[in-house]
Amino acid sequence: SIYGNLKGIPKMEERLKEVLKIRKIIISPGNLSENSMVLKDMGKITNRLLKESLLAKEVIGITGGSTMAAVADEVTSDNKIRDVIVIPARGGLGREVETQSNSIAAKLGQKLGGSYRLLYVPDGLEEKALELMLKNEEVKESMELIDNMNTLVFGIGRADTMAKRRNLSEEKIDALIKAGAVAEALGHYFDIKGNEVWEFKTIGLSLGKFKALNNLIGVAGGEEKAESIIAVSTLNQNMTLITDESAAKKILDIV
Ligand code: G3H
Repeated sequence: SIYGNLKGIPKMEERLKEVLKIRKIIISPGNLSENSMVLKDMGKITNRLLKESLLAKEVIGITGGSTMAAVADEVTSDNKIRDVIVIPARGGLGREVETQSNSIAAKLGQKLGGSYRLLYVPDGLEEKALELMLKNEEVKESMELIDNMNTLVFGIGRADTMAKRRNLSEEKIDALIKAGAVAEALGHYFDIKGNEVWEFKTIGLSLGKFKALNNLIGVAGGEEKAESIIAVSTLNQNMTLITDESAAKKILDIV
């Protein structure tokens, strides 16, 4: 059924937690690729989880992409004022306004009754230009906040899909695939064991900092993302994964 195997969900969550060895798994019944309600449901789950776990004066990071856009849509404003700041975790990935981490951070900050900061960096800047950007006062302030980030809500992508979305050259995409890249998160590309294969140069949260965060909420579904989820789950155990039934099944098939 489009609602999936409801009874089997808790068991599957338990199995998946053992396999991925992360803090918590929440599975939304059904298949995200076939039913758009599943993505909305994952967004609603994220909304609840986020509000339950928010600390006072917390800095919350968020990434871009279609999943995070859905999350921001499903976060409900409850007229509470919260002393939290939302910030994009990384700068300048992608061109569409709706799926930009800046737009998503702004929406989330407003809906949580908190504030937000932006981080504008154009795609594909050279290293020298990035260095100069870091001298800008506004960018500096955002970078300091990123250093104080406690919670990160993030999307997980397939390496090939994300490489195409970023308009990388065909040679670059081939090289990434040959190097075993199956996952992308925050502009970093990983093989299935979680080894970093390549990084899309930008500013923001470093991989080292990502690995040290103590509250990660990863949201990703669809069976095509199974390997990507496995890869990213190896990076930091302090992670709650919100996924769908189809990805969960596929992961359990693979491992
Ligand atoms: O930055 C994007 C994520 O890694 C995945 O994007 O939610 O559109 O699949 P998505």
